[in-house]
Amino acid sequence: MSAINNKHILIGISGGIAAYKTAELVRSLIKKGAQVQVCMTQAACDFITPLTLQAISGNPVHTDLLNPQAEAAMGHIELARWADLIMIAPATADFMARLAHGHANDLLSTLCLASEAPIHLAPAMNRVMWSNPATQSNVRLLKEQGVQLHGPAEGEQACGEVGAGRMLEALQLADLIESQFSASAKQLPLSGKKVLITAGPTREAIDPVRYISNRSSGKMGYAIAAAAQQMGAEVTLVSGPVALEAPAGVRRILVESAKEMHQQTLKEAERSDIFIATAAVADYSPANVADQKIKKTDDPVSLELDYNPDILMDVSHQFPELFCVGFAAETENLIEHAKTKMLRKKLDMIVANPVGHNQGFDKDTNQVEILFKDQHISLPEQDKRTLATKLMNIVANQIN
Ligand code: CTP
Repeated sequence: MSAINNKHILIGISGGIAAYKTAELVRSLIKKGAQVQVCMTQAACDFITPLTLQAISGNPVHTDLLNPQAEAAMGHIELARWADLIMIAPATADFMARLAHGHANDLLSTLCLASEAPIHLAPAMNRVMWSNPATQSNVRLLKEQGVQLHGPAEGEQACGEVGAGRMLEALQLADLIESQFSASAKQLPLSGKKVLITAGPTREAIDPVRYISNRSSGKMGYAIAAAAQQMGAEVTLVSGPVALEAPAGVRRILVESAKEMHQQTLKEAERSDIFIATAAVADYSPANVADQKIKKTDDPVSLELDYNPDILMDVSHQFPELFCVGFAAETENLIEHAKTKMLRKKLDMIVANPVGHNQGFDKDTNQVEILFKDQHISLPEQDKRTLATKLMNIVANQIN
């Protein structure tokens, strides 16, 4: 029996010409054994009739947010809870913009906002609309929120132009939805676990144009986030400024300063099972941030610095149940310094890596020593992505 059998799929249709393909998608999902409910925007009803979708899905089609009759049959919150997966096909530029910004001005956007089910989009639009910076910025926002996008494909468009913007074919989308369930049925090592990760450097403002920071690229933390997500975890990444895109399916919260990272991380720690601190948090920040750009003078300048909060220390002390992993970047006495940090910060595990002299920071490879209270594992220099998967497997073994 297929993993999609009896699963609840909510198909959302927004107003695009590709809506005609969605009838075939609903039919294929039902053939695979899924239960399907359809929700259409007003614009979608101009392209394909609700009656067609009702006949194919075998269920009344939902179109209105404030329809007393529909609410009596299955209210919008119930429908949001009913869904195991939401697929919006086609997702128009306008719908993506509304979803990215959390609007709830029609039934479909409200359902997306009120549901905890994974949201998938099959974008379809004119190629210029797709490549428009406004749409691309919404795509980035959606990915950061953990929404998964499929396509668009390249090819001939309804408007006669050729380029990226075609909705994926119905059968492709049906297979993609099915594969989501077969992957989760495989019982991955971190299924059901919530992993919180800090990554990248922090920036400590001196004045509106200057800051103190460090050479961290965020690559290790991002690789760990991607590995944890692929191993079935629900991942939240609190990241300082880096030149990396959020890994697919990972929720990212962008921050600048250590204080912001501290605040967001503590807020998220409460609902997490595992915390991995890979961020290179600045230990100090300027005591006084100038409102205006500081002008050059002939006199020497000195900068007064204050301590920043220790994020890892605060998380491990406030949430003793959390499995806490720290990183120790050291230029000398690697093992000794790392052990001291592990005890001082009350950690379950510490990953010690040599830095400086062209090692560790801003590179694609890393060599680490993993320390527990009574165990030591050495991992030779390797690609950060391979290393990330090994590290997460070690964490999974510890907590399972
Ligand atoms: N860390 C943190 N918050 C800070 C400083 C560090 O969460 N303000 C975390 C890092 O993400 C890392 C670990 O603590 O996982 C070790 O960081 P490191 O800077 O090496 O240790 P420090 O305690 O700052 O000690 P030192 O700088 O003296 O080596």
